[in-house]
Amino acid sequence: MEIVFATNNLNKLKEVQSIMPTHIKLLSLKDIGCFEDVPETQNTIEGNAIQKAEYVKTQFGHDCFADDTGLEVAVLDGSPGVYSARYAGAQRSAEDNMTKLLSELQNKPNRSAQFKTVIALSLNNELHTFTGICKGAIIEEKLGEKGFGYDPVFLPDGHNQTFAEMDLALKNTIGHRGKAISQLIHFLNRDIT
Ligand code: IMP
Repeated sequence: MEIVFATNNLNKLKEVQSIMPTHIKLLSLKDIGCFEDVPETQNTIEGNAIQKAEYVKTQFGHDCFADDTGLEVAVLDGSPGVYSARYAGAQRSAEDNMTKLLSELQNKPNRSAQFKTVIALSLNNELHTFTGICKGAIIEEKLGEKGFGYDPVFLPDGHNQTFAEMDLALKNTIGHRGKAISQLIHFLNRDIT
């Protein structure tokens, strides 16, 4: 079975392919001749994931799944949320984003936050969504060198290392994206067997 993963990030594609059952082959956007930017103009994480999956299905006729992720901070009413990548501006700098976040949270005792990933799957003309959440807190300074995005300031509940300090395997097990992907894989297995 072939299915498109609507991403231009080849590392993400490889990572997800490595945990897919062997009978599911992932195709990239390039593999199907999609070289344009897939639109993500919605104002929710769910909306963007659905928009991307439906765009590929409509324009290219392929079954497809797409993901979208955001960091939701309780005391900021869920911001940066769907705008996580460009929180501090269009330059999409992780350093600038974290600096802005830490400054917004100065003197705020409630540091609760969660990462949320939504995967939208368009399969056989039906739409399904899978949501993975990882709860934690924003610490007061950046710690760790691994990972990307907000990893150095995010301390997942029940752990004493930030996402940027822990091994990728552990992050994938407890993390938002890994949880959403496990649900997707479970669903695809059930659908096929
Ligand atoms: P995307 O939807 O996966 O492109 O993620 C949007 C933005 O959320 C990224 O640019 C990062 O700023 C942030 N982000 C997503 N996933 C993670 C993660 O696992 N760790 C830290 N930041 C993340």
